[in-house]
Amino acid sequence: MTEIYGIDLGTTYSCIAEINSITKLPSVIKNQDDLATTPSIVFFDENDAPLVGGEAKRYMASDPSRAVAFIKREMSNPTFRMEIGCNEITPVKISAMILKKLVDDANINRKFRGKPPIKDVVITVPAYFGNNERELTRQAGIIAGLNVLGLLNEPTAAALYYGSRGNVFNEKTFMVYDLGGGTFDVSIMRMHNNVLETLSTDGDHHLGGVDWDAAIVDYALKVVCGESGVTYEDIKHTRDGGDMIMNAEKCKKMLSESDRAPLRFRYKGRMYMHEMRRSTFENLTAGLLKKTIDSIRNAIKISKDPNAKIDMIFLVGGSSYMPMVKERLYMEFPRVSIFLEQFEPDLAVAKGAAIQAFNIANPQSAPAAGVKIGTDLSSRSYGAGCMRTGTDEHIIDNLILRTDPMVYEGTCRHYTRNDNQTSTSVSIYENKTVEKELSVNDGVLVQRQRIEWGYPVPKGTPVDYTIRRGLDGIIHIEAMCE
Ligand SMILES: Nc1ncnc2c1ncn2[C@@H]1O[C@H](COP(=O)(O)OP(=O)(O)OP(=O)(O)O)[C@@H](O)[C@H]1O
Ligand SMILES: [Mg+2]
Repeated sequence: MTEIYGIDLGTTYSCIAEINSITKLPSVIKNQDDLATTPSIVFFDENDAPLVGGEAKRYMASDPSRAVAFIKREMSNPTFRMEIGCNEITPVKISAMILKKLVDDANINRKFRGKPPIKDVVITVPAYFGNNERELTRQAGIIAGLNVLGLLNEPTAAALYYGSRGNVFNEKTFMVYDLGGGTFDVSIMRMHNNVLETLSTDGDHHLGGVDWDAAIVDYALKVVCGESGVTYEDIKHTRDGGDMIMNAEKCKKMLSESDRAPLRFRYKGRMYMHEMRRSTFENLTAGLLKKTIDSIRNAIKISKDPNAKIDMIFLVGGSSYMPMVKERLYMEFPRVSIFLEQFEPDLAVAKGAAIQAFNIANPQSAPAAGVKIGTDLSSRSYGAGCMRTGTDEHIIDNLILRTDPMVYEGTCRHYTRNDNQTSTSVSIYENKTVEKELSVNDGVLVQRQRIEWGYPVPKGTPVDYTIRRGLDGIIHIEAMCE
């Protein structure tokens, strides 16, 4: 059996899992604090040396300006700039530090068991990540010294793990609702003979528990401190901000258990104490919850089987513990069973990644835990930039739609515009529509590649392009000139 590991690189917590060589079942490898999950936080000490995980979280409270948290949300943000001491912070470097910490801790644990260091991994990504964020996640793995054999959509990973827990899912259509710390994903899936098929996927890579925390901080500043015009964004890197965010999160978690919770925090040298009601919190954040419902409705609309009855809903991600999530979903889907605690919502993604890692590395063996992926989907379509025939209108010719299977290729033919051309360039645009053609303004340029064939050809010579999307959701281009 080839050993590969599954990593859930989360916005707030990360986790690594393996497959037991005898039982073929997944289990989490604990970190050096003896915990299953590690905070995705890096703190730079007074010598600018990075501390990662639980230790970083403990230091962050004392000086949030030297800490980096929620970096996954910035993964492909070109405007993200941050410097700490002489360290220029990039999301890829920080993600690499988190991955390295997970693996280093797991290696200490493995050394005791006489096992070699971890090298090959599958890393999970939000289904809603586009090409660039996936590519950057892969690079983070490489910088951490890992061999990234695959990337896997988080809801698909969770569903794989659920599928391994018994056959209640077989022949059922179900939804995975994954509201984590920083991202939201929804996937509609079906399990047939222990093979998992994704029917559609949607989400928002900027929506998660941290937005609910920010709503409490905004409320505290305005209503409790009487500060008008100061927001979470203004104070999030200050010491007061760090204290308020931590206490807002505490208060939010308590509100998952009871109708009222104390909100204590320090601001401008004063201590404040306020009693927060769950109903107030729910009113403040109703708009955020509504965004998840809009994504669900879109996922149903674009599903391969939009009329399929959803038999069950699985809640993944720590933010699914907020009672408002289940209540709102029951309103949207009366009579559908909703599962939460029974299925380890915080560990399911890493365990599913370990199952997929085993299945990639051991294609000849029976699948780990008896389940495997049939078809997965991407949340984005990809097309080549071109001119609409007979016009000067710049359009995107969508060659791979988000409703096509993850592993897919699309081809198109363009013609050289000048005599003696020896090369051309092709631009690939990412977009969220399922239309075949769209305006170039409705897509995001993700790759521009110059293709050289090395000999001059007359104007009007056909050039055939192929865009290929791999199992990791990353795009590759090839072209051939006749
Ligand atoms: N009991 C609870 N009630 C409300 N929120 C909770 C509770 N427990 C955890 N959370 C929230 O869940 C979030 C963390 O969830 P999780 O570990 O699933 O996220 P993640 O995997 O790090 O993020 P992502 O999947 O978005 O990258 C945090 O925002 C945390 O405050
Ligand atoms: Mg997660």
